[in-house]
Amino acid sequence: MTSLCLKDAAWLVPMAGEPVRGEGFSSLEVLEHCSANLEGDRVASVGSGDDAEVIFDASGCTVVPGFVDCHTHVPFFGWRGDEDAARLSGVRYQDLHRGEGGIFRSARMLQQSSDDEVLAFCGELAAAMLRRGTTTFEMKSGYGLSVEAELRQLRLAARLSERVPQRTIATCLAAHAVPPGKSQGEWVGEAAAELLPIAAQDGLASACDLYVESIAFALEHAARLAEAASELGIRMRVHADQLEDSQAGAFAARWGFASADHLNHTSLDAVADLAASDTVAVLLPGATFTLRQSAKPPSRSLIEAGAVVALGSDLNPGTSPICSMPFVITLACRTYGLRPLEAVVAATVNAAFALGLHEEVGSLVPGRRADAVVLAGPVDEICYRPDRDRVMAVVCGGKLVHVRPGAEGRVTRS
Ligand code: NIG
Ligand code: FE
Repeated sequence: MTSLCLKDAAWLVPMAGEPVRGEGFSSLEVLEHCSANLEGDRVASVGSGDDAEVIFDASGCTVVPGFVDCHTHVPFFGWRGDEDAARLSGVRYQDLHRGEGGIFRSARMLQQSSDDEVLAFCGELAAAMLRRGTTTFEMKSGYGLSVEAELRQLRLAARLSERVPQRTIATCLAAHAVPPGKSQGEWVGEAAAELLPIAAQDGLASACDLYVESIAFALEHAARLAEAASELGIRMRVHADQLEDSQAGAFAARWGFASADHLNHTSLDAVADLAASDTVAVLLPGATFTLRQSAKPPSRSLIEAGAVVALGSDLNPGTSPICSMPFVITLACRTYGLRPLEAVVAATVNAAFALGLHEEVGSLVPGRRADAVVLAGPVDEICYRPDRDRVMAVVCGGKLVHVRPGAEGRVTRS
């Protein structure tokens, strides 16, 4: 008898534990009338249903691996709804970002709040993410803007990680906004010489990220941080081509970064670079939607050329106050042209690959962490009726952590 069985799902998408790209999409397995048997916090088997201490009747539903949100700006404190309202009246993100607003404002809100306040605020966000099926998420610093404040944010991420059931991983967003009174080069020098070594050596971050944009940093700073990251043995990521084509997508691919994220203005030349690399193209349609950007990433070209495409929420108070991966999947299909199954791949195994965690999460393969989401209806209809909550149940680390109100009758405990 196993501990938990998601029994007799009409469809089950196991993924195979490896990133999916190019031709791989045409041979994806969708199993029919299938169960997932979980033992402790691991997947035991996928196939016929075992007797189990807890059984969830998944008939009529699709079972997918727990969602992996590979790009969030948690931990942060407080929202910036008034900036969003200003944008809806025509103000540009770039203009809010200058002066006291934008990232600088979030840095101030974080600085003015206690550790307990931040942890309570972010604990609620993590709980909301869990109810929507996110069982792994990435966190970033980037609202510190000084060595000490960036490290505080990373230490808060580590404390949050201990309090939530999800698997988490942290990134040092070492260059997000240019700290007042410093030049870009001065801050990046400090980040490379002081911040990153402590973040890496204290195990606070396994990757370094930066924001390449005319209002933030340039490719030369990406190179400087990449050099430091390589010496420290941590991976590189970059916020690339979000508001303009800064060539950061191609740069990331050529320098072997773990990911290039956003990609709204990425050129077709850069698509070829990304497709020829293992750099994950992380698409963040929540930010595009919130900023009402007409420029969309070359999503279909990326998929067709064979890039590893992943999805993330970009959860942050400025450009993406969105924590639901089902909503992100819906946006990816409806506004970026992903097919439903591609979007599920992008939100599970490919997102896990972006984080270097694909051997642990993102697939329902025996031995992997027992994280799964039960979705109402077939996978092809995942974004039909987009305002409907499709998440019937969530399993995180082998535990049934969420059952949708009204679906309690599907649970049998022995
Ligand atoms: O990923 N664009 C840079 N960073 C974030 C937004 C940060 C903020 O506005 O607070 C993003 O969109
Ligand atoms: Fe971001």
